[in-house]
Amino acid sequence: MIELRGRLVALATEHEVYLEHLSLANFRNYVRLELELPPGITLVQGENAQGKTNLLEAIYYLATARSPYATADRELINWLAEEEELTFARLAGQIQKDRALQRLEISLLKERAPAANAHSLKKQIRINGVPRRVLDLIGQLNVVLFMPQDIDLVAGSPSGRRRYLDTTICQFDSLYCRTLRRYGRVLTQRNHLLRQLQERRGSHEQLRFWDEKLAEDGAHLIARRREVIVELEELARAIYLELTGRDEHLSLRYEMSTRMPDTHYQIPLGPGFEGGLGIRYSESSIREAFLEQLRGITREEIQRGMSLIGPHRDDLGFLAGGVDMRIYGSRGQQRTVVLALKLAEAELLARKTGEQPVVLLDEVMSELDEARRRYLMQAIENSQQAILTTTHWNAYRPEFLEQATLLRVKEGRIKGAGEQGSRGAEEARAGIRY
Ligand SMILES: Nc1ncnc2c1ncn2[C@@H]1O[C@H](COP(=O)(O)OP(=O)(O)OP(=O)(O)O)[C@@H](O)[C@H]1O
Ligand SMILES: [Mg+2]
Repeated sequence: MIELRGRLVALATEHEVYLEHLSLANFRNYVRLELELPPGITLVQGENAQGKTNLLEAIYYLATARSPYATADRELINWLAEEEELTFARLAGQIQKDRALQRLEISLLKERAPAANAHSLKKQIRINGVPRRVLDLIGQLNVVLFMPQDIDLVAGSPSGRRRYLDTTICQFDSLYCRTLRRYGRVLTQRNHLLRQLQERRGSHEQLRFWDEKLAEDGAHLIARRREVIVELEELARAIYLELTGRDEHLSLRYEMSTRMPDTHYQIPLGPGFEGGLGIRYSESSIREAFLEQLRGITREEIQRGMSLIGPHRDDLGFLAGGVDMRIYGSRGQQRTVVLALKLAEAELLARKTGEQPVVLLDEVMSELDEARRRYLMQAIENSQQAILTTTHWNAYRPEFLEQATLLRVKEGRIKGAGEQGSRGAEEARAGIRY
């Protein structure tokens, strides 16, 4: 670990990246916000429902063009803006990248179709003023977000874990991202055809065409996910050991719906598993197995009108001390697994891109015990920029408050909680009393 950290620090000095300025207009409860952000640790305090989560969501959105919370982008636009002639939200960020400035901008514009009462939302992305696609945006600013609901990553459904894998890999691998999008389109087409065949329309020849496409892109996604999981596991395992006081071993495994020849249904990975070592499948061998299996399940797929195997049906498993955490993990264990995974993700991103991600922590301290808190604090002290939220200053030690920039949020407005350094900390400590 110590060695790993050393390496991270070295990388950090090589590439300095942080979000220096954030402007928001009509984003959630921020009607207007102009916020300077320093490198290092920023702690944002606020009562419930003042805009702590919304601030982190805005930064995450600016980096990924995707919200971790909202089901539809239109939820992000300030309610009051709905009444206005022009309904829009705008996010802009200035990023310091090796002393050069990068400007990222996302606008959401609600367009009213004059006749019907229909609305459509136009999302426009600009990088340094030039219109760009989502794919160009990803990777400009790497972020790792950690929030209390993240426990669902372990405790929740496989789709959440697949989304997690996809978002993580997309941050540093644009080929994966492009393949993922295409796979999604192929899947839709193929499912459509399967339903047609169910109704005795459509052609089997066409299905074979989509089989090829599905297996080709699917194999790429599976192979890549497996590679990344091995790397993520190596990092998460070391962190988990430290978090649990060298007590428990964590392993990750990729559970494939596509069966490989001569192996079990679930393929263990990593050194924690007997026989797990060295099982590496080439993309082409996965593709072949995928195709062959597709041929064998045609009848069932037509009957059910859906594609039954592929990366869209796979899962990520977590084992601590050999026990499946998705099913048997205690809340505390599940939380620790997620914490290890997120910290591992931050290290992985730094390793892949040479840039440390901005770490966003939404009220996570209150949920952790003392030892885990201390570990997390240490980990973020090494990061280039970390933005944390809290309802109570006293969730943090005075020494920590001393070195952090302290901000206070109230009704969608943010101001400094005193000067940085001792005065801020003092005021913050005084703040506990009222
Ligand atoms: N589109 C929107 N327009 C205006 N206000 C919104 C919009 N979406 C959410 N809000 C409001 O913004 C407020 C702040 O939400 P936020 O989740 O940031 O609070 P918080 O400070 O994280 O609170 P908590 O401590 O409870 O987590 C809430 O009252 C919420 O209802
Ligand atoms: Mg919140």
